[in-house]
Amino acid sequence: MWAELLPVGRSAASGGYRRHAWDGADAECRAWFREQAESRGLAYELDRNGNQWAWLGDPEAGDAVVTGSHLDSVPDGGAYDGPLGVVSSFAALDELRSRGAEFRRPLAVVNFGDEEGARFGVACIGSRLSAGVLSREQAFELRDARGTRLPDAMEKAGYDPAAIGADTDRLGRVGAFVELHVEQGRYLTEDQPVGVAGAIWPHGRWRFDFHGEANHAGTTRIEDRRDPMLSYASTVLAARERARSAGALATFGKVAVEPNGTNAIASLVRGWLDSRAADEATLQRVVEEITAAAVEHGGRDGVRVELTRESFTPVVEFDQALRDRLARTLGGVPVLPTGAGHDAGILASAVPTAMLFVRNPTGVSHSPAEHAEEADCLAGVAALAHVLEDLACR
Ligand code: GLV
Ligand code: MN
Ligand code: MN
Ligand code: MN
Repeated sequence: MWAELLPVGRSAASGGYRRHAWDGADAECRAWFREQAESRGLAYELDRNGNQWAWLGDPEAGDAVVTGSHLDSVPDGGAYDGPLGVVSSFAALDELRSRGAEFRRPLAVVNFGDEEGARFGVACIGSRLSAGVLSREQAFELRDARGTRLPDAMEKAGYDPAAIGADTDRLGRVGAFVELHVEQGRYLTEDQPVGVAGAIWPHGRWRFDFHGEANHAGTTRIEDRRDPMLSYASTVLAARERARSAGALATFGKVAVEPNGTNAIASLVRGWLDSRAADEATLQRVVEEITAAAVEHGGRDGVRVELTRESFTPVVEFDQALRDRLARTLGGVPVLPTGAGHDAGILASAVPTAMLFVRNPTGVSHSPAEHAEEADCLAGVAALAHVLEDLACR
C-alpha cells in the first residue's frame, strides 16, 4: 500500500511531494484512502469537514480508539510526514486482525484534511474545524494564493462545504486518539527507533506586509526610494538574531513580491513568519521584538509595516495518563518534545491524545530528503499495533 501512494503528487523535478488540499494529488490520496478502507471491509465515512474515517465496529457506540494522520504535504515535502501515520495505522490494524484480536471498542483510521496549511495558510484546518478551534466563519474567509476561497475549493473537489464546523458529537465518541508520525528532529538515538511525544511547542504564523512605492530601478535615486525589500531583508536578519538569543525559532519561508519585476522597486513585500518556542511567554516576546525591528526598519526606509496573526497554537501537553500508558506498553521508550505541529496537538484540546514518533536518521523534514529506514517504520507499526491492542482489545 505504501508503494501505491509513493508516486502520487511527486514532482519529477525535485523528487518532493506537492499534495495540497483539495487539488488533484490530494484527490488521488483521498481515493487511495477510501480504497484502503473498503478493501478491508471498514465502513468509510467523510465527516462534515472533509476528514476521512475508516471504521471497524460501530462509529456511534462511543469510546472509540482512533489512529491516523494526514496525506497532504508542504510544497516539496517528503514521503513520510503524514502518510507514514496513515499507512502504519492500516498496517497495525491488519496485524491485529491477522492475529485474531478481539476488539472491545470501535476502532477507526482517520485522514485529517489540510494538515500542512500549504494552500490556505492555516495548518490543521480539518482537525481545527472539528475541534471548534477554527470557526466556520474564519474558514469561509480563507483564500489561497489565487484568491480561491476554501469553501469554493472544497466544492470544486466535490465536497459539500455547507456543513463545516465544530464536530462535537463525533469527537465526543472518541475515547483516545493516537497519531504515529515520523520524527522531525534527531531525538531518537541508535537503539531507539520509536518514542512517545511529551509536548508540542507553542507556534504560530504571522504575515508582515511591507508597503513601499514602486518605481524605476534605473532612474530612482537611492535616497528617493521607499523600498520594502530592504525592510523585509533587515527583518529576516533581525528575526534570526532575536530567535537565537531567546533559544526560540523564527523562519521566513515564504515571500510574495509585487509587482515582482527585476527592473522595478517593489511596491509590496509580504513575508510570512513561522515562529516557535518552548513556552508562550518566550514566543510572544520574540514575535514582539521581530515586529519592533520590522517597524524600525520600515521607518528607516519610508515603508509602512502591517502585521496580521494568521494562526496560533498554544503549547500542547499530551494526556499524561495516555502517554504513561503508551510508554508502559512499549516498555520504557523515550518521551520527546517537538517543535512541529500536528492534528494530534489540535485534538488534544478535545480528546485524550498521544503520539508515537518513528526515528528520522537525519532529522530532515519538510524536504524531499526526509527519510526513515524501513526497519524503523516496521518497528513503528509494531509499536502502534501494541498500543492499539492495549487500548482497544483488552
Ligand atoms: C507542520 O508540519 C508544522 O509544524 O509546520
Ligand atoms: Mn509537516
Ligand atoms: Mn505531519
Ligand atoms: Mn505537521
